Order: sequence, then structure tokens, then C-alpha cells
Amino acid sequence: MAIVERPRRLRATAPLRRLVAETRLNPAELILPMFVREGIDAPVPISSMPGVVQHSLDSFKSALQDAASAGIGGVMLFGVPVHKDAVGSGATDENGILNVATRAAVAEVGDALVVQTDLCLDEFTDHGHCGVLDAAGRVDNDATLLRYQEMALAHAAAGSALIGLSGMMDNQVEAVREALDGAAYSDTAILGYAAKYASSFYGPFREAVDSSLQGDRRTYQQDPANRREGLREARLDIEQGADVIMVKPAMSYLDVLSDVSAISDIPVWAYQVSGEYAMIEAAAAHGWIDRERAILESIVSIRRAGADAVLTYWATEVARSLNGGSLNGQ
Ligand code: PBG
Repeated sequence: MAIVERPRRLRATAPLRRLVAETRLNPAELILPMFVREGIDAPVPISSMPGVVQHSLDSFKSALQDAASAGIGGVMLFGVPVHKDAVGSGATDENGILNVATRAAVAEVGDALVVQTDLCLDEFTDHGHCGVLDAAGRVDNDATLLRYQEMALAHAAAGSALIGLSGMMDNQVEAVREALDGAAYSDTAILGYAAKYASSFYGPFREAVDSSLQGDRRTYQQDPANRREGLREARLDIEQGADVIMVKPAMSYLDVLSDVSAISDIPVWAYQVSGEYAMIEAAAAHGWIDRERAILESIVSIRRAGADAVLTYWATEVARSLNGGSLNGQ
């Protein structure tokens, strides 16, 4: 038998494999999500996310410097307030923790990194939902849009370059675009979390932001069973004027990511969420998988499926290793 095709030929040596790699990682396409907590003066570890902390304003600034010197593309900020209420007042207060952190980040690294902010009410509401509730206790879509518009103005005023709409309310991109344009913030960009699924992989994040949520988010986040619906959500966000769209989580939704990137004419990002981080860290801590290889493989797979950039809690560490260091920064 004459074998005509020998794919193994190109796998024979490390230089050959490096040369023919179809997907490469660059620090510039990594975005670091960061948590800043009000009222603490030392960072607080998040037990379900070893290596990730709730930052004090001080530790936040030094982590921003580390991120900038590693050359990542940007940071996505989340605030953890002391006080919560039914409408999430802290989200729109200019002295609310997220807005304070945003101004600090812009002053610290605004020239080097794209400072981005998470626009959602869940960290700020006492019931933990992403929107405000109606009299029957249901998340009220259109009343929430008004809060999102106010929150967007607060983020833009604080200097956010790109506002991430993660709440999954219908029409949120259009509502926020309108509010920004009406207040002369037409240069502030919008990241639509277009296809965001109601996922168990957000578990550790709930600890990270001290979430008050009882129940779940299945009336606004998507059913994991639905693939086509991811395309519908992406189409709606693009039509409403999103500058970038996202698929989230990443690893269990690579089919959706691939579909969305095939139809999108704007950048498509993916969020490697807290549970994806926790699974790899936990297995590696047991010695069950090779931590460095698993991290790089997971991020490459997300890029290969079609993400132009990846939000990952390993962003700074991976960027350092791409710059020639080892993954744990030694
Ligand atoms: C909601 C929000 C969540 C995450 C990012 N934004 C949690 C949720 O929807 O329940 C999860 C991110 C992660 O798990 O890493 N504001």
C-alpha cells in the first residue's frame, strides 16, 4: 500500500510544529477580569479561585501595573460594594466602588490597557438579580434598561473605554447606545454579551462578588440546550450597534462560538469563566493534569473555535509566559 498522505510529516519536530501551528496566542488578545472590593485595605483571596483575589484599591493598582507590563490587551472590572439595595444604587453612584475603581484604573494604566467595565446590577442588588424586580418579583426587562442607561453614563463618565453588557436584558445594547450617544459619549464602545448561558460554571464568580442571589437566572440567560438561539442573540446585538460581541462561557460553548464567529463582521470574544478556571486549578493542584499545558490548551481551543480575544483569569500569567517566562511567573 502506497501511503500518499502522511500528516505526521509535519509533526516530526518541534520547529516544524511551531511553524505550521494554525493558532497562536498573543498577549494583546488577552483580557483580565478583576474584582475590586469596597472597604478593604488588603486583598481577600477567593477560595474557589486559587490565585484570584478581591482587590483593595492598592493591590488593584499594582495588579494593573503587572498586567500592563505583561502586555495584555485590557482589563474588565467588577465591583464588590459594601451596601446593596433593591435597585442597585451603588452601580450608578459616582462614588460607587466600580466607578471609583474605573477612574483609578484609567489614571494608572489607561494609556497601556483598554479599561473595560461590567455593566450589570447583580453585584449591587440585595436580591442578586441582574435587573430590578416587578411587584411579582420577576426581573422587569424594561425598567432594568433605564437603570442600565444610568449605569452606562456613570461608567463612561468614569472613563471606561468599553462597557460590557452582561445582564441579558432584551434590547440592552440599543438602550445603552442611545443613552451614551445622547450624552456625547459616542466614542465609548459596547461589548454585548450576546450569547450568555445560564451556566453552573459561574459558581466561583458568585463567591468572587459576594453574590446575594437566591435561585437562578434562567428567565434571562440562555438555556444550555440551545445552539441556534446563540446566533439569534448575536444578530440582535449586532443590529443594535454592539462594537464587539461575546460568547460565554467558553469551553462548553465552542460550537456556539464557532457559529457566531462565522456570521459576525465585528470582533467576537469569549469569556473563560470562573468555573473553567477553578476546574483546571483544582485538577492541577491534585496533580491530575499538567497545569501549564491545560491552561494553554484551553485558551488555544477558544481562539481556534473563533474568538478574537479571550477574557481569562490567567491573562497576566499567560502573557508573561508568552513573553518568554514560565507560566507561574518565575
Ligand atoms: C453577571 C456576570 C456573571 C459573570 C460575569 N458577569 C455571573 C452570572 O451571570 O451569574 C460570571 C463570570 C465568571 O464566572 O467568571 N454580572
